[in-house]
Amino acid sequence: MSSASAEQRREQLVALFEDVKTCTKCPLHETRTKAVFGAGNADADLMFVGEAPGAEEDRQGLPFVGRAGQLLNQMLDGIDLSREEVFIANVLKSRPPGNRDPQPIEIEACRPYLFEQVRLIEPTVICTLGNFATKLLTGNPAGITRVRGTPQVHELGGRTVFLLPLFHPAAALRTPAVKETLREDFATLPGLLAMGPPAGNDEPVEQSLEDEPPDIEPEPLSAADQLDFFG
Ligand code: URA
Repeated sequence: MSSASAEQRREQLVALFEDVKTCTKCPLHETRTKAVFGAGNADADLMFVGEAPGAEEDRQGLPFVGRAGQLLNQMLDGIDLSREEVFIANVLKSRPPGNRDPQPIEIEACRPYLFEQVRLIEPTVICTLGNFATKLLTGNPAGITRVRGTPQVHELGGRTVFLLPLFHPAAALRTPAVKETLREDFATLPGLLAMGPPAGNDEPVEQSLEDEPPDIEPEPLSAADQLDFFG
């Protein structure tokens, strides 16, 4: 547990936000409109990590404000949570042009920001949304279709957390069965949150890469909706 108070951690998160806004550590700063730090409750128990901002997120400087974000709102609503109660972030804080895949140099530049967010927010559960965030944060190449819905225990940002891989909401928008699975996986979150932090076991659940089903990749999104800033 951190010795810093929630207020101190929030102040440090605001300072980190200022760093991210002006970050020039990778070439994406040349093409982005706004950096997308993340938004929600600075002291949230539950954190979501997506891939990277899309066009609308880049325009507004807020995460998941397109159609995928609307579905994320609906899923949260289904378990009586709102965006204001959780923290929503991405692996990359700047939009890759044309929503192309994040490049290694961009991931390396942004990775410390995400881990610092985890350290300061102190979530007990982190949901990775889609293949990209899941593979990066689990350190395991197993695809999302295989690992989704089963909590793992990992040490991230100096904290032992439950990591719950979920389908990306963009994939759920495309495929009704994926949406239903996402809803079912969301329904497990209240129980996982009620367990509190995992007891220091940083061993991820064993994964076999044999017979891996094909992955369902997210697609770029653009439409807008609302979001507050972190508070
Ligand atoms: N997709 C993501 O992965 N992140 C966003 O913020 C929006 C869409």
